[in-house]
Amino acid sequence: MRGHIGTFIAALVAVALCGCAGLTGNAGNTGMSITKAAYGTTEGEEVALYTLKNANGVEVQIINYGAIVTSLKVPDRSGKSDNIVLGYDTLEEYIADDAYLGCIAGRYANRIANGRFTLGSSEYTLAVNNPPNHLHGGKAGFNKKIWDAEEVRRSGAVGVRLTFTSADGEEGYPGTLDTEVTYELTKENELRIDYSAETDKQTVVNLTHHGYFNLAGAGSGDILKHELMIAADRYTPTGESMIPTGELAPVEGTPLDFREAKPIGRDIGADHPQLSYGKGFDQNFILKLAPGKSPELAARVSEPASGRVMEVLTTEPGIQFYTGNFLPNGKKGRDGKTYNHRTGFCLEAQHFPDSPNQPGFPTTVLIPGRKYSQTTTYRFSTEG
Ligand code: BGC
Repeated sequence: MRGHIGTFIAALVAVALCGCAGLTGNAGNTGMSITKAAYGTTEGEEVALYTLKNANGVEVQIINYGAIVTSLKVPDRSGKSDNIVLGYDTLEEYIADDAYLGCIAGRYANRIANGRFTLGSSEYTLAVNNPPNHLHGGKAGFNKKIWDAEEVRRSGAVGVRLTFTSADGEEGYPGTLDTEVTYELTKENELRIDYSAETDKQTVVNLTHHGYFNLAGAGSGDILKHELMIAADRYTPTGESMIPTGELAPVEGTPLDFREAKPIGRDIGADHPQLSYGKGFDQNFILKLAPGKSPELAARVSEPASGRVMEVLTTEPGIQFYTGNFLPNGKKGRDGKTYNHRTGFCLEAQHFPDSPNQPGFPTTVLIPGRKYSQTTTYRFSTEG
């Protein structure tokens, strides 16, 4: 009997140390695992790297600095896995990063005009870190914070739940914001992101994932041959400084019409003011005018050479499509790779830019007692 108990305890310890969900006896998680490793130290705190795997060869790596996805390996049509997101090798490079590679952008993803907004009778001033505007939460947005992390296991998925409390007044925003972001890798080859936030004072919130994708493999060249469909018949045109005019304009007859899939490179050089402001695609597409209850298809991307396909489903009303126009040539990436201009694209599900100053846009105001939530899923498959 003692022998059995000893074996049982040893098995429990092994499961706890290994973190292998497949060993827990959860049949829905066969072949799935989570492992945790040290990634580095900053501000006296240790940062961990979580590796999530499923039985189909999909592997996601996440660090609790910036809630960053550092690597996402997905098989191509012949079964060969490759990393399809831009990233770095070290924590130091993520700390120095100014391109928001793979992070969660917040408290307000995208731009707020002149770094100012009014709520009730109070005016708030934010950092102008993308002159003349505020971008992605300011000088030290959620992408520069150390989040608490815990492993998540449920039938058919393994994940990491990250929590961060943004103090009242941090980066100029009112209200203490308790934020939770859960990344899950499912057995259906999805990277699912559930976001929620609560405040103790009226504030604004807009969170998104800022992964740069290249379905041919990160560092393998530009993304211009990817075929993209965006399920939007309108977009929010901007002025020169990328702040929306407030208009909801039809994509029809413009280079922004992605309702039928077309190569990203086909119209990227078209003579159109919206393309000149962003130096390529960098626009918010309107999916709907209020958040949905469950994620709906927002975009589909396929890469002809590898056969990889990515679908983006979201509850959010908008999606920013950005073609890495501000990525410099010769940027050092992970695994000895070099990234250049337009070698990754972002599909950032979110509310519209500058919503706090745009009464006609879906609201980004959060009040005490209410919960902000959004879900976005990146789903992978192959074709051809
Ligand atoms: C914005 C770009 C910006 C980039 C910074 C994107 O979300 O749309 O305008 O340059 O983030 O990495």
